[in-house]
This record gives sequence, structure tokens and C-alpha cells, in this order.
Amino acid sequence: MPGDRGLTPAELQLDERGRLRHLLTTEGLPRELLVEILDTAAQFAPVAGAPVKKVPLLRGRTVLNLFFEASTRTRTTFELAAKRLSADVLNIDAQTSSTSKGETLFDMQRTLEAMQVDMFVVRHGSSGAAHFIAGHAAPGVAVLNAGDGRHAHPTQALLDMYTLRAHRPDFRQLRVAIVGDILHSRVARSDIHALRTLGAGEIRVIAPSTLMPSGIETLGVTPYTDMDAGLAGVDVVMLLRLQRERMRGSLLASPGEFHRAFGLTEKRLAALGPDALVMHPGPINRGVELAGELAYSPQSLILQQVEHGIAIRMAVMAMIIGRTEGA
Ligand code: CP
Repeated sequence: MPGDRGLTPAELQLDERGRLRHLLTTEGLPRELLVEILDTAAQFAPVAGAPVKKVPLLRGRTVLNLFFEASTRTRTTFELAAKRLSADVLNIDAQTSSTSKGETLFDMQRTLEAMQVDMFVVRHGSSGAAHFIAGHAAPGVAVLNAGDGRHAHPTQALLDMYTLRAHRPDFRQLRVAIVGDILHSRVARSDIHALRTLGAGEIRVIAPSTLMPSGIETLGVTPYTDMDAGLAGVDVVMLLRLQRERMRGSLLASPGEFHRAFGLTEKRLAALGPDALVMHPGPINRGVELAGELAYSPQSLILQQVEHGIAIRMAVMAMIIGRTEGA
């Protein structure tokens, strides 16, 4: 097929001047760019509180949300972000698109590009789908990865970093535990890359052995299969959903048993102290990865994460298709 230049996602997402052309992964994303995204998001955050929640930056541009997997937070916050930047927004639900009649992803992309779309926001169940689309994109068409299989969810990691930075600006002092279904989690991978780039003091991953990827240490994290040992002394607990839709075979005894062994309970959070922070990308499963009472407790940043998703997505879109020529 024409267009695939054989570049890795980290290489393909930057242009020849080192600026963002697509956003496919936080792996290999240079620190200066990552910090620039967070700082740009901080500039856009006040738009949410303005009487008219709109700025004209992307007027006349077209953003297409192409979602092949279910989503509440990511799809709606991408749509809101694009609309607050004054872009025209189209939403395609893959279930009712012509891919359900046998059209390939490649042909669908060509068809949509013929409508002069400027940006695709893609969520897909297959790792590498956004990379594939970016590799075949027409000149000037950008691709944002909104989550591909187990591989990456870069805007989730960026909004997580933005949220963390608002509460704990010195990442060198941070001890973070990422807990749950590490094996199937694109969020865990993207968060680990971003945390390392920002110099987090210590990153732990906690999971049952059946949900712990072998060789995870190579990402610069310390694995634990005992929840209480892994949590001891951490400042931030990032919880993950059990991704039953990606599990093959019986990797877990039951959700109740998982909660007893790996759930964040009030007792476990109390042991960490009142300053410990709780994060979760959502959707949450109450009584499985966390006790329901903790979801919106004072120590929980879960709804702030959702809110910050809009500013982060505005920032990424603005940095890619909001630049004026030569800037
Ligand atoms: N965090 C996240 O990706 O949520 P959605 O699946 O609802 O988009």
C-alpha cells in the first residue's frame, strides 16, 4: 500500500523540525514537547470557565472522531475540545459505518480524506491502528491516537501528567503505584513512559502474576504481586480497570477476589495517609478496583482527570493543526 514509510510511532509523530505532526505515543516523546503540551493546556484551561466557551483557533478546520471501540470520556472530550477551538467536528461510529459492509480501514481513510478532513482522532481495538492510519495519511492530515489496543493512549497519559503536576509539581519526589490489569493496559504503558520522561522518583506496578506482563522491568518500573507491599509509602495510586473484553482464558478467579487482594479499600488508603492521591482513567468498576466510597472522595482526582482531558486535547490539536505557516 502506498504511504507507509516504515517509521516507528515515535519517529512518525514528529516532523523534520521536531514538532508534533501526529500524536501516537508518549514513548520517545521529547520532554520539551511533553512539557509544552502541559503548558499549552494550562493556557486553554480558562476557556472552560469563560461565558463563551470558544476560541477561534481552528475555525474552518475539520476534525473527525473515528471510534471503533466504546468510549465516554475520550470521545466526548475530544469533541468538546475541537468545538471549543471552533473546528467543525464529525463523529463516525464504526458499528454504523461502511466498514461493517466490508470496507477496509485504508479505503475508509482515503474516502474521508477526499472530504478534506484535517485531523483524524482514532480509537481502535488493534494495537498499531493509529500508527497505520498515520503512516498512510495524506500530506497535511494529522492523526491523534485515542487508544489503540494494549499499545498506547497518549492523551490519557498527558492529562494524567497535567493532573498530577497540578498537585505535585516536583516529579522527582513522587512515588507512584499503577495497580490492576497492567497486561492489557495501554494507559499503564503511556503513563509509565510519560512519568519516566518527567523524572518520577519511583514507579511501581502492582498486579496478580496473571495480569503482569513479563519483562515489565525493562520499562523502568518495579513489579509487585502483593498489593500491601507495593502500596507501602506511595504518594499516588493510579488504578486501572480489569479489561475483561481483552482477556483470553481465565486470568482471574472473580472480581470479588480481585478486590480483596488488589482493590483500593478505605483501610488501604487510610494506611497511605491523608495526602495520598487516587487516580483512575475510567470507566471505574465500583467494588472491584476501588471501594465505591473512594470514587469521588476528597483524595480522588478522577473527575479532575476528566475535566483536564478537554484542555489537554485542545492543546494537542492546537499544536498540530492550529499553527500558522512557518511558525
Ligand atoms: N479513559 C478512557 O479512555 O475512557 P473512555 O473509554 O470512556 O474513553
